Amino acid sequence: MQETQPSSLLHIPVLYKEVPEVLIHNSDGVYVDGTFGRGGHSRIILSKLSNQGRLIAFDRDPEAIASAKNILDPRFSIIHAPFAEMKNELDLRSEGLVDGIFLDIGISSPQIDDPQRGFSFRFNGPLDMRMDNSCGLTASQWLETAEEQEIAKVIKEYGEEKFASKIARTIVQYREKAKLETTEDLANLVATIVPRNRKDQGQHPATRTFQAIRIAINDELGQLKRALNVAGSMLKPGGILAVISFHSLEDRIVKRFFDSMVNPARHIDPRLPLLPDQLPKALFERSSRILPSEEEKDVNPRARSSVMRFARRTSEPWRETK
Ligand SMILES: C[S@@+](CC[C@H](N)C(=O)[O-])C[C@H]1O[C@@H](n2cnc3c(N)ncnc32)[C@H](O)[C@@H]1O
Repeated sequence: MQETQPSSLLHIPVLYKEVPEVLIHNSDGVYVDGTFGRGGHSRIILSKLSNQGRLIAFDRDPEAIASAKNILDPRFSIIHAPFAEMKNELDLRSEGLVDGIFLDIGISSPQIDDPQRGFSFRFNGPLDMRMDNSCGLTASQWLETAEEQEIAKVIKEYGEEKFASKIARTIVQYREKAKLETTEDLANLVATIVPRNRKDQGQHPATRTFQAIRIAINDELGQLKRALNVAGSMLKPGGILAVISFHSLEDRIVKRFFDSMVNPARHIDPRLPLLPDQLPKALFERSSRILPSEEEKDVNPRARSSVMRFARRTSEPWRETK
């Protein structure tokens, strides 16, 4: 594989040993990496494929797409689109079913560490938070226009923040006088309401609010739910879907999805008068979970909260699920 980026600049991908072991069962196959980032996992997957194998990657971040241009490998292609759109994008290119789909969801280190992207309260920068900064509302624009109740709901549900209502009220009062334009504006405002965590003094009071607004701005949970269903319809029988998530809101969605795929009969109304052979058949099988080893957590702190869940597509024809 030709490579124009020095390997010392590449970050360590999470569960980098386990991902190819779980995902690649046919080295001549076609694989999808829905979250290219800086291509850590993509490069590992490519290194395990034969000359016949192919990898199609996606990312919604234009900077990730630009960095993918460093991979000069004819087996590799990159598409700028949200992963919920991956089936439409592959259909447009007349791709058939694929052998494996991988998602490493959330934000990348380069996104968090660039003050201009506005993801972090650690650096001052424009309050943006869009993964695709070529379209959509910035966090600043959303906070300027959203209803107080909507802001409170987002901070409560996606941040699991008990001061959500008070934060939302204070934001709405603040915006009558001034604009929340920077990460510092928002971090300082939230810090006037949320006390420091007594157990974890290192945690900034705005941590949960930033997470919540980021999830809402990028519709992260909606993207994940749609991508899981779409992925199921894109896999060959025996194909693998593997998803790494970093917090409980996402992991819960992935876990429930695989449960409902592996045990669909448990998810239908038991009062329905169905015979055993009329019960829906499993669309996925062998669902499992892998956590990072202690060794990996020591070397790569980003791995600490990661969970990978994966399962294998059965030969049962795909049916649309809720
Ligand atoms: C955790 S990073 C992936 C890191 C990557 N596995 C690596 O080794 O470099 C997540 C990436 O997924 C992208 N992303 C998140 N949600 C997305 C979505 N709905 N559609 C497409 N890309 C998304 C982000 O822009 C980010 O670049």
